[in-house]
Amino acid sequence: MSSRGNDVLDRLRRLRADDAPTHGGRVLSYVYDSGLAELDELADAAARLARPLNGLDPTVFPSIAAMERDVIGFARRMLRGGRSVVGSVTSGGTESCLLAVKTARELWRAKHPDAVGRPRLVAPATAHAAFQKAALLFDLDYDPVPCAPDGSVDPADMIARFGPDVALVVVSAPAYPTGLLDPVGAVAPAAADRGIPCHVDACFGGFVLPWWPKLPDWDFRVRGVTSISADLHKFGYAPKGVSVLLHGGRGRQGRLGRRAQFFATTRWAGYPVVNPTLLGSRSASPLAAGWAISQHLGDSGYAELTAAIRRTATAVRRSVDGIRGLVVLGDPVGPAIAVVADESAPEAERVDPHRLADALVGRGWKIQHQPGFTQSDGVRIPHSAHLTLTPALERGIDEFTGALATASDEVRGTPPADARALAAAMRALGYGEGGRVPGPQAAWVLLRLAGAAKVSADAPLATLMALIERLPAPVAEALLSELLARLSDPR
Ligand SMILES: Cc1ncc(COP(=O)(O)O)c(C=O)c1O
Repeated sequence: MSSRGNDVLDRLRRLRADDAPTHGGRVLSYVYDSGLAELDELADAAARLARPLNGLDPTVFPSIAAMERDVIGFARRMLRGGRSVVGSVTSGGTESCLLAVKTARELWRAKHPDAVGRPRLVAPATAHAAFQKAALLFDLDYDPVPCAPDGSVDPADMIARFGPDVALVVVSAPAYPTGLLDPVGAVAPAAADRGIPCHVDACFGGFVLPWWPKLPDWDFRVRGVTSISADLHKFGYAPKGVSVLLHGGRGRQGRLGRRAQFFATTRWAGYPVVNPTLLGSRSASPLAAGWAISQHLGDSGYAELTAAIRRTATAVRRSVDGIRGLVVLGDPVGPAIAVVADESAPEAERVDPHRLADALVGRGWKIQHQPGFTQSDGVRIPHSAHLTLTPALERGIDEFTGALATASDEVRGTPPADARALAAAMRALGYGEGGRVPGPQAAWVLLRLAGAAKVSADAPLATLMALIERLPAPVAEALLSELLARLSDPR
């Protein structure tokens, strides 16, 4: 490496020093550390070997097709799909969800050639935001089904929404915000009876729940499940950029689904194009890394890592049960839990989860703020803190549960952040319900007014979250978009 190259790398190392730690289980969202350094080395080596390839054309680079075959084969055994289950490797959970929706829309259009209205996508309100994005991009109406305050959805409420315009119903295994397993066994067969495809979003739990004991069936064993997404870059322990989308169902349904997912054209002046996924040219490195890790871990490796997550989940739940004023939301299974204030306790005894999250940052732990969400029927899912539990956390579990207890003691009785005055000021400026949506400049001024224009990995977020809860969604979305956009504006 030339000294110039070394200087550049040094600069990157200095930049990286401000990042939240990706290893050691201290960040309980975004990153999925197996705790096995060997896996990282293997992923790096495999990614490097595949670096120069272009995933655009596996006929020119057959190693890509070979790795895809192995990954899809592994995933379909894991998700209990038979030989008729087929699939693709994508760049991540969002792309897998987008393609599941695009597939369903193509099949719905083929079935309803004379339809004038838009097709509908039915999902519990806890389904990942990627499905809202998919509905927007592929022109479907998004129809979220309200959940109970603990995040659980009644299958009857979902089934009641079924109709000829429904192109897809989505359930999660589990839902990210709560860790709850949706009622796949009740929803998918009812959808099948009406000819509606059912996607199980196992982006989060797909590489954990197959080894989690005593769960109701939620995978391809359930009649009516037509596609499943599962992310290698989450609990598959691969670096970012790799997920799978599988299509199954009766007879040729899986193959027809996959065909509807593809884009192909010979109608231009260049090479014939067949894109299985959204991108054209694509890196093969994430695939190679995911392939190497799944080959290396195999069934038994994932089973062991899942056992570590289960022990961690038991310890965290036991610890929360022992904390006055704090409770686990609903009855989660798998690697995520959400904690909320115990509404049955007197106010002076409650532990506000966002105050807790802010207090934990000072102790070197990062759990994720989730704003409260009022659904279309008025039922509110309370604001919470999300914890993604990884195998790496097991080594530090005593320190973490200790920090959870002392940080709870510190904030117990402190009321939730109050953004009423700020929200009222914004209303007075015309940014209230039914009012204006700020443009880029106004959004920036409002952010500064709210004291939220500076962000860092360890900034307290309770006030910003309270503001998001109080502002009309389009206003909050404009503020957050501006906040993120400004981060990458050249200085
Ligand atoms: C259930 C679920 N679906 C979809 C996604 C989107 O995945 P990605 O962030 O990889 O695009 C996530 C991410 O957390 C998720 O938990």
